[in-house]
Amino acid sequence: MTQMGRFIPPDAEPGELGVHSVDHFGLNVPDLAEAEHFYRSFGMDVQAESARLVLRTTGNPHTWAAIQEGSRKSLRYISFGAYEEDFPRFRERLERMGIQRLDSPPGYESNGLWFRDHDQNLVEIRVCEKTSPHEKTPFAMRSTPGGERGAPMRAEALEIRPKRMSHVLLFTTDVERAIRFYTQVLGLHLTDRGGDAIAFLHGIHGSDHHMFAVALSPAPGFHHASWGVDSINEVGLGAMQMADRGYSAGWGLLRHVLGSNYSHYVRDPWGSYFEYTCDIDYIPKNYPWKAGHYKPEDSIYLWGPNLPEDFIVNSEVQPEVSSAKS
Ligand SMILES: [Fe+2]
Repeated sequence: MTQMGRFIPPDAEPGELGVHSVDHFGLNVPDLAEAEHFYRSFGMDVQAESARLVLRTTGNPHTWAAIQEGSRKSLRYISFGAYEEDFPRFRERLERMGIQRLDSPPGYESNGLWFRDHDQNLVEIRVCEKTSPHEKTPFAMRSTPGGERGAPMRAEALEIRPKRMSHVLLFTTDVERAIRFYTQVLGLHLTDRGGDAIAFLHGIHGSDHHMFAVALSPAPGFHHASWGVDSINEVGLGAMQMADRGYSAGWGLLRHVLGSNYSHYVRDPWGSYFEYTCDIDYIPKNYPWKAGHYKPEDSIYLWGPNLPEDFIVNSEVQPEVSSAKS
């Protein structure tokens, strides 16, 4: 069991220790056929492997997500990537902090370190290649000269296929504890906070403004995964692509304040979201970013449609939990 009282600060060790990427995540969903339709429509490369669907992005062999059938939608695990030379130090850190190591989930072959976070989410640290970007992701904003059309016919619009995963946002029962756990155990750094409601964290080896984020809720849960495209035009085309295939619920087009990214969120069949995003801020390796603490109403979005009332509803909160807290 995780023992929060025994944390030591990571700077107690020589050299700072931190994961470099969110490698991938595992999600349980109630209907794999419905899942396949949603993720293919979004532009993911979806393959059935054993009893799960594996999500990749075009032209990249990396597995970003593994989707399995379960009684309801829930996070199965989240896997963070570390450099090989750091792996023994993570093992020692877990031991020193009294965090119990667990077996990998059934049917999942891995040599990683498995444990539970403050919300009992299953977390892995594994040795793998850095998948978070090494620099700010290029962003295209192209104009055409006079005498040329800028937009194609609708029928000729690009099929949107995201390039990479940018970040994952989970619901947490305690933002403060989440920040402590993910900074002191995983070695992430706090980038910014929106009141006590939301926190964004980046990797110390260079990553987007957030590769992992948490938002307050009465229960843990998976809120969204975000996927990088090249332009605002592609964000908009992605939203239309999903609307054309029956997934018109969501939020966007908008520009965030914290992260600065342009986004459109598409609601999945289970009340969580996949986000098309571009031009997210980047925190270079060893950059002395000063974490900010802002009012949520001033920091979530710069412009866009009003925040839908159901956007931050945690669909994983069970009815009895919900009524007990209300
Ligand atoms: Fe996001």
